[in-house]
Amino acid sequence: MKLTPVLSANWGDDKPWTLDGYGEYDAAKKALTTLDPDSIISMVKDSGLRGRGGAGFPTGSKWGFIPQGDGKPHYLVVNADESEPGTCKDMPLLLANPHVLLEGIVITCFAIRSNQAFVYIRGEVLHIVRRLQAAVAEAYDKGLLGKDIFGTGFDLDVVIHAGAGAYICGEETALLDSLEGYRGQPRLRPPFPAVAGLYASPTVINNVESIASVPAIIDRGVDWFKTMGSEKSPGFTLYSLSGHVTRPGQYEAPLGVTLRELLELAGGVREGHELKFWTPGGSSTPILTAEHLDSPLDYEGMTAAGSMLGTKALQIFDDTTCVVRAVLRWTEFYAHESCGKCTPCREGTYWMVQILERLEAGNADESDIDTLLDACENIMGRSFCALGDGATSPITSSVQYFRDEYVAHWERGGCPFDPAASTLFAAAGAMS
Ligand SMILES: Cc1cc2nc3c(=O)[nH]c(=O)nc-3n(C[C@H](O)[C@H](O)[C@H](O)COP(=O)(O)O)c2cc1C
Ligand code: SF4
Repeated sequence: MKLTPVLSANWGDDKPWTLDGYGEYDAAKKALTTLDPDSIISMVKDSGLRGRGGAGFPTGSKWGFIPQGDGKPHYLVVNADESEPGTCKDMPLLLANPHVLLEGIVITCFAIRSNQAFVYIRGEVLHIVRRLQAAVAEAYDKGLLGKDIFGTGFDLDVVIHAGAGAYICGEETALLDSLEGYRGQPRLRPPFPAVAGLYASPTVINNVESIASVPAIIDRGVDWFKTMGSEKSPGFTLYSLSGHVTRPGQYEAPLGVTLRELLELAGGVREGHELKFWTPGGSSTPILTAEHLDSPLDYEGMTAAGSMLGTKALQIFDDTTCVVRAVLRWTEFYAHESCGKCTPCREGTYWMVQILERLEAGNADESDIDTLLDACENIMGRSFCALGDGATSPITSSVQYFRDEYVAHWERGGCPFDPAASTLFAAAGAMS
């Protein structure tokens, strides 16, 4: 298996975050001077590019939903909130290569007939906010943003907006409320953002990586893009390996690569240890185990394996990790980040933390696992937005694969991985 660096191709170059290092937006020039908006939308549709923000919705189709000739302003909002535990692709991309996003924004706005784009970026990453702002200033300076871009009469303004640190503001409609100055909480749909989004006007919301993938499609063509990946999940993408892996980092590869192949490139699980469990796409995607090492990491492959591709955030956990403790930590995150709008998620995540705390401390029993699963059942599909559903994934999947380890906690009266005792689960199993 070979890597397919496109977005990451220039990361090792001299100052790739400057226009000198990046180039003069040749793909945008080609789009604005030789293509019309509808043919760009068709190209992106034909490429099969799917949204990289988690759900995998076809990007070209999303653009096609924007009504034309409606007399309203159209907006592009780029989602750079990236706050899911484990997800860490958009921030390195923006740090190393911010102009690829800006070039993608120029092309996208031209295609959807928008003269105003916003990038909603998580506020905690101040150095990346500054890098992006510097790139925007440089692009304005060179006439790649602003008035009459490439002498075509096309005007475009880009605003960088830093969020205030709420995970829910990555949910696209909560993001819009936050951008408008309201408290970030998900909106009821319909109306969908394509019809009534930002300031009640037609709005496209896309992930950073989705928009950053557009210049390469325009530049090298649909056929080239489709030489990578699978029929339903074509193209290249950033896989982020983190945790107990020898060489963590970003690995840009064709969709459909397997974790076994990526681990080979990353030097494997850290020396002397075995893979225990992993997430394919951040903490809200059900965990998988070593039996899924050869499952294709694309949308269909991960669904078939009982999980989701999500953000391709491959968090690797080795045999020293207590799964109950890891799941407790994730659940604490969801309880903290629940926006409180709907009861199943607001109350359910709180109670799931209480039960998991008991389970982890060894003060629980079999009935607590049942209560925990019952809480998940009452959240799944009954919450207002996907945060609630996502909060149940680590719990249900960990009980599915590691029920014995939950049991070992109460049989032992505590965590079998207690670092003070430095006992591993295998040893604890022998003791119980
Ligand atoms: C709780 C929650 C948090 C999310 N956070 C992000 C995020 O940080 N970045 C992102 O692109 N999408 C995030 N999403 C998904 C967005 O709602 C939306 O689907 C995505 O921005 C669409 O872009 P895409 O079609 O390019 O993938 C989140 C969804 C939920 C439910
Ligand atoms: S599921 Fe959670 S985050 Fe989403 S609206 Fe309900 S309370 Fe808010």
